[in-house]
Amino acid sequence: MLEHLARKWSRKEKQSVPAELDRSGKIPQHVAVIMDGNGRWANMRNLPRVAGHRAGMKTVKEVVKAADEIGVRYMTMYAFSTENWKRPRDEVDFLMKLPQEFLSTELDELVERNVRIRMLGSKEKLPAHTLKALHEAEERTYENQGLQLCFALNYGGRDEIVKAFSVLASKVKAGELDPEALDEEAVSRYLYTSDIPDPDLLIRTSGEIRLSNFMLWQLAYTELWFTDVLWPDFTREHFYQAIVEYQGRARRYGAV
Ligand code: IPE
Ligand code: IPE
Ligand code: MG
Repeated sequence: MLEHLARKWSRKEKQSVPAELDRSGKIPQHVAVIMDGNGRWANMRNLPRVAGHRAGMKTVKEVVKAADEIGVRYMTMYAFSTENWKRPRDEVDFLMKLPQEFLSTELDELVERNVRIRMLGSKEKLPAHTLKALHEAEERTYENQGLQLCFALNYGGRDEIVKAFSVLASKVKAGELDPEALDEEAVSRYLYTSDIPDPDLLIRTSGEIRLSNFMLWQLAYTELWFTDVLWPDFTREHFYQAIVEYQGRARRYGAV
């Protein structure tokens, strides 16, 4: 019975990949997502903002499955920025509980899918319960070889670069690094993403056309894709639409 259901589901999932998507072609290795619009989605329904965040969590599940199914290797989800501490205390507290909530219901399935969970961001200021939930998921999935699902939490692009420079400066001071030898690779080595390739595609929902301090170094040559759809309304179909458009783009990296 269960097997039958599993087959049914996997058939259903496969059917939902649009025909225009070239599955043997250019699948982005790394997709980064600015999941925006949860608050507006809730406002439109006269619900508290946190209801939007809970609805957004469902979208995370769907999009991760959709990405895994077409062979995306890394997904980075912007979950909380270094600027999001400016929000009301209740909202921040709620957001800090979401990783536990998400992982308590999803971790088993993610493990089955061979997904590796990672956290990118500063551990400073994060409540112990949030860190614990993420740490346990990281430990439990450390050896998984499938999709790497990275949550950018208490993440700021500038903060990340400053932290890298601080390490580099102390190495120079200790005589371990010649300032003349400082290059892009040396900087990359001290970012949270030291062993993760730069994103190929960035998706931002909710109609805002900005980066909001997300992966400033890593997005140098990333293809950008924006949609007005609010994150809780974003579906696997929208995700595949972004991939199809990505497949039609010519990446030149400054060459001809
Ligand atoms: C994105 O949705 C989620 C986080 C920033 C945590 P928002 O909460 O920013 O929703 P809007 O932009 O106010 O609609
Ligand atoms: C960016 O969204 C941060 C996350 C999605 C986690 P924001 O809603 O915080 O961005 P701004 O304030 O509109 O630029
Ligand atoms: Mg927002």
